[in-house]
Amino acid sequence: MSQAKRIVLASRPVGEPKPSDFRAEEFPVPAPGPGQVLLRTIWLSLDPYMRGRMSDAASYAQPVPIGGVMEGGTVSEVIASNNPAFAKGDIVLSRAGWQTHALSDGKGLARIDPRIAPISTAVGVLGMPGMTAYTGLLDIGKPQPGETVVVAAASGAVGSAVGQIAKIKGARAIGIAGGKDKCDYVRREFGFDDCVDHRDPDLAVRLKDACPKGIDVYFENVGGEVFDAVFPLLNAFARVPVCGLIAHYNDTEAKPPKWAASLMRNILTKRLTFRGFIVSDFAARQADFLRDMSQWVREGKVKYREFVTEGLDSAPAAFVGLLKGANFGKQLVRVGPDRT
Ligand SMILES: NC(=O)c1ccc[n+]([C@@H]2O[C@H](COP(=O)([O-])OP(=O)(O)OC[C@H]3O[C@@H](n4cnc5c(N)ncnc54)[C@H](OP(=O)(O)O)[C@@H]3O)[C@@H](O)[C@H]2O)c1
Repeated sequence: MSQAKRIVLASRPVGEPKPSDFRAEEFPVPAPGPGQVLLRTIWLSLDPYMRGRMSDAASYAQPVPIGGVMEGGTVSEVIASNNPAFAKGDIVLSRAGWQTHALSDGKGLARIDPRIAPISTAVGVLGMPGMTAYTGLLDIGKPQPGETVVVAAASGAVGSAVGQIAKIKGARAIGIAGGKDKCDYVRREFGFDDCVDHRDPDLAVRLKDACPKGIDVYFENVGGEVFDAVFPLLNAFARVPVCGLIAHYNDTEAKPPKWAASLMRNILTKRLTFRGFIVSDFAARQADFLRDMSQWVREGKVKYREFVTEGLDSAPAAFVGLLKGANFGKQLVRVGPDRT
């Protein structure tokens, strides 16, 4: 019987995850029972939320148990089926997690049409990160023509889509990214009006220069020092979709926020709108998202960049890298061959 592989959570990380927080295990490829399908993982999506699942701090989702398979979205192939809804050879979006093979009863699987776009986009620009950008920006940020939209992690899966959608809506898009190469790419390939390096010691000054009319929508992906630079530039009635705070995901010891009082005073005096959201809050917008985003991708109005590491064994290091900017684009792991 051939062997499968999975990566499980070995221990809850303190600070940045270490290789010893993960463990690779082999197991026999399982046989599907009645009503089940057997999946072979092609693409594993690595996403920042996984850091939250490694922790048992209270959150909107349950943590991965110690010894449990690391959670994750996958693009998988049905390689055996006892479920009439799926045939051998179907490509599906699944939550199979960090493993080469998985069983499913078919619930929650969505068939992917490889003729529409490369199947990897189902966990990228046409999947969860793209939908996060679309709903957070349009439903909370509501950019108007001529307004200034700022987003950090601008070369990444969510940020790159945020800026390009802002441009489609007639707004100015200003990115923030780590390093010259990423900033150049964000301007040149994603068509942002400008991009500022968050490692520049003069970040606050550079950002002010890039936003002469202030900031109307700040799509918050990061927190930390980036937020410190953005905050004084927010205009009256600015909207801040709070999507992620990646600068803090490895903070396992809470520090008292020095800026909380000033933040609250400004929310009041500038009549700011801050709204946190999880992409699943906007499930009802899925059809709108797929219609618009597929069209924009087809027309070349929204471009995307993927960053691929090879083999399931590469996932832990790639994930640690994602949390500190080693990825340059949507982080994917090629777990098995894509034959589409
Ligand atoms: N609310 C939701 O439902 C939802 C859904 C999806 C994603 N998110 C959030 O959206 C954000 C982006 O996710 P993604 O999947 O698109 O990841 P990504 O941008 O592809 O990758 C993460 C990027 O974060 C940046 N980063 C890390 N630490 C930073 C720091 N201290 N300061 C500034 N930038 C830092 C790095 O880019 P640089 O090299 O440019 O620094 C890194 O490449 C994350 O916060 C994630 O948690 C939220």
